[in-house]
Amino acid sequence: MPADLVIVANRLPVDRVTQPDGTQGWRPSPGGLVTAIEPVMRANDGTWIGWPGGPSEDADAGDLDPFEADGLQLVPIGLTAEEIELFYEGFSNATIWPIYHDLVAKPEFHREWWDSYVKVNEKYAAKAASVAAEGATVWVHDYQLQLVPQMLRELRPDLRIGFYLHIPFPPAELFQQLPWRRQLLEGLLGADLVGFQLPGGAANFVRLVRQRVGHKTHRDLVYLPDGRTVRAAAFPISIDAAGFEALASDEAVVARAAEIREALGSPRRIFLGIDRLDYTKGIYARLRAYAELIETGELDVEDAVFVQVAVPSREQVEQYRILRDEIDRLVGRINGDLGRIGRPAISYLHSSYPREEMAALYTAADVMVVTPYRDGMNLVAKEYVACRTGDDGALVLSEFAGAADELRQAWLVNPYDINGMKAALLEAYRADGKELTRRMKAMRRTIKKHDVAAWADAFMTELADVEHSTHAKS
Ligand code: G6P
Repeated sequence: MPADLVIVANRLPVDRVTQPDGTQGWRPSPGGLVTAIEPVMRANDGTWIGWPGGPSEDADAGDLDPFEADGLQLVPIGLTAEEIELFYEGFSNATIWPIYHDLVAKPEFHREWWDSYVKVNEKYAAKAASVAAEGATVWVHDYQLQLVPQMLRELRPDLRIGFYLHIPFPPAELFQQLPWRRQLLEGLLGADLVGFQLPGGAANFVRLVRQRVGHKTHRDLVYLPDGRTVRAAAFPISIDAAGFEALASDEAVVARAAEIREALGSPRRIFLGIDRLDYTKGIYARLRAYAELIETGELDVEDAVFVQVAVPSREQVEQYRILRDEIDRLVGRINGDLGRIGRPAISYLHSSYPREEMAALYTAADVMVVTPYRDGMNLVAKEYVACRTGDDGALVLSEFAGAADELRQAWLVNPYDINGMKAALLEAYRADGKELTRRMKAMRRTIKKHDVAAWADAFMTELADVEHSTHAKS
């Protein structure tokens, strides 16, 4: 049945897995995007187009039929092993990802990666064109699919098209390095509304469109020669705050949190990091900062343990393999040098966990440490705050995470400044109950008011209004 709301994202909310008995099953797919969009889908009865993970023998074969999982209408797009290598691991995650994240790692430029990116974007656009009802709204997500808005508009001019970028949009100085910069900008301009995490990203985009494509702009509006207007604006993403709060109050989760504390030897304070194992997240520097505090005696492993959860991610991409080896070595060295029997300094877990276990970890942790070099938003920081129902717990947060714009009462740090991070970790460790409550209360108010429903609502309302936007002169 044609759909009135179509979500197009690289991944489906579930990954296809082959079970031990050989049958096909499904499990939640990784990343913050899924957590954010799923509630919107449910509320709007939408259809979701995306990749179910893993290679398909023949991506054009009819082996991937639409299906329903957990009440969601899902339309899978198969990617061949070659497309995974060139489009996903290559152009999306080894060209765009590092450029859009401040060049934390060196991007690679390969023409065959770009060609595959174009081809795969065409595949998503064609599928969206075939499932959308007349006049439907299509919401395209993230950096893997920046060409889809324009491609889709050509196929289906009747659609209302929104695009949302979950990662940062870089300043012109960085974006300009891309040999395909103009095509990417034109791809995005196929949308009626282009959403970013922060106002800075929207401003970078508008400036680039003016300079590189030559369109007229005025504030957040771009005027196209064909008379269309495109709006670029910030919509900071959030989480299902009430859902996390409810989880954190659940008896089983509370019991599990107590169990975790005990298993860690009931230390005075538990530090916690939860990240996809990604070089943008600043895991290495954060663990070093903590280790130095133990070395100097400012912290003691009997009183303060660090739990680092590193969720496996993009393991075929070279930079991610290098990072994994580096973190493995660092954790081994720190525990070898500073741990005691039954007391490793760092509990390192290379695994992903269900929401319940995450909520138990957030509940057990006294100091949440989120120190990316660059991050679009960082939903882990918000999830921690949502789970602190007792208005306690400290958040140490990088200034370079989008979340820092809203969570001003966190201990804000520059992740490049190890001494600064050490000072913040110590302050958070030593903070008294009154100080913690003051900060956490304010952050919890922010999160509750601005949850994922408010985010989606703001974007959808703006998208519905966009064609009435005024055609002011620049
Ligand atoms: C980030 C991106 C998402 C992506 C997720 C997981 O949150 O913004 O688009 O899905 O990471 O990464 P993966 O490469 O496994 O999809």
